[in-house]
Amino acid sequence: MKNKKILLAARPRGAVEESHFRLVEAEIPRADDGEFVVRNHFLSLDPYMRGRMDESKSYAASAVVGEVMVGTAVGEVIESNHPKFKAGDFVETRTGWQLYGKSNGGGARKIDPNYVPLSAYLGAVGMPGVTAWIGLNEHGKPKAGETVVVSAASGAVGGTAGQLAKLKGCRAVGVAGGRAKCDYVVNELGFDACVDYKAGNLDANLKAACPKGIDVYFDNVGGPVLNAVLGHMNAFSRIALCGQISGYDDPDALAVKNFRAFLVNRINLRGFICSDHLELWKPALTELGQLLHDGKIKYRESIAEGLENAPAAFIGLLKGKNFGKQLVKLI
Ligand SMILES: NC(=O)c1ccc[n+]([C@@H]2O[C@H](COP(=O)([O-])OP(=O)(O)OC[C@H]3O[C@@H](n4cnc5c(N)ncnc54)[C@H](OP(=O)(O)O)[C@@H]3O)[C@@H](O)[C@H]2O)c1
Repeated sequence: MKNKKILLAARPRGAVEESHFRLVEAEIPRADDGEFVVRNHFLSLDPYMRGRMDESKSYAASAVVGEVMVGTAVGEVIESNHPKFKAGDFVETRTGWQLYGKSNGGGARKIDPNYVPLSAYLGAVGMPGVTAWIGLNEHGKPKAGETVVVSAASGAVGGTAGQLAKLKGCRAVGVAGGRAKCDYVVNELGFDACVDYKAGNLDANLKAACPKGIDVYFDNVGGPVLNAVLGHMNAFSRIALCGQISGYDDPDALAVKNFRAFLVNRINLRGFICSDHLELWKPALTELGQLLHDGKIKYRESIAEGLENAPAAFIGLLKGKNFGKQLVKLI
């Protein structure tokens, strides 16, 4: 048996293409002292990977051309010379886009697939869930009765953020692309309303969905959606700026005209990165795990089959072709 890896082959200028990746075969790694080897079951595909493909200055180091594409996966330990991990343990590791990875335990966590499904540790009970929890609680700070708008509402982060807002007694309003996603956000995730930003009349539809204005905006997309939302923010409202996916390929698409709203309504905007708040991961993951285990939050997944299909699935994620957390099933 061989390992398979996907390398970053070239840095994109604009949209990502399959030619920016290269699939290679290699020997399955062996564990040296203080290391373990994991066979990955699911690979997580996340929008942040688009930023890592660039060389520009950011909050995290760029992926290296010619090396395994960065990423997080969940799987089973098959060999260990590490005191804290043994064969048979299930783990989340940052071993990247490959079938088998080697870890010294840094950034790895043991997970229990009997508590919540294995793949959920890459979604609602993983980094995207923690991001939703931190953005909403630390920066949005919603109070019961307030209106919370969440963009990319059917996705891994947005779906969780809106459900957490509902659990706090807020009116949760999603923004998503297309009827099917909006129906899911309302009927399955329990948001009060969802605006289809692709259907036109964004301004009027936001106004109708938020009759008392917007107190908190959990922004996953930036650009035209942020611009429209700004026109409906209440005095002393908050924006948790989590992502700007509408401009990852083209920063010019992020231009916002309604900037005066910040002054007129004394809006507090806070950009945040989930890794800024490592002390909050444990309480966030404990609460999210319990909520999922108890059926109080739901999620949906888009699952590509096989490592070789990861590049196409990633390109689809950046274009909104995913419907829920984007994963690649490796076994
Ligand atoms: N700050 C942090 O620490 C942190 C951590 C994790 C994620 N994030 C950010 O959070 C956001 C959501 O991440 P996720 O993992 O949950 O992904 P996701 O929502 O599951 O998938 C991305 C979604 O973005 C939407 N989208 C794509 N292009 C768009 C455009 N031009 N305009 C509006 N929406 C667009 C699509 O949904 P529609 O079909 O509805 O358009 C797509 O399904 C991303 O911006 C990501 O970078 C930030």
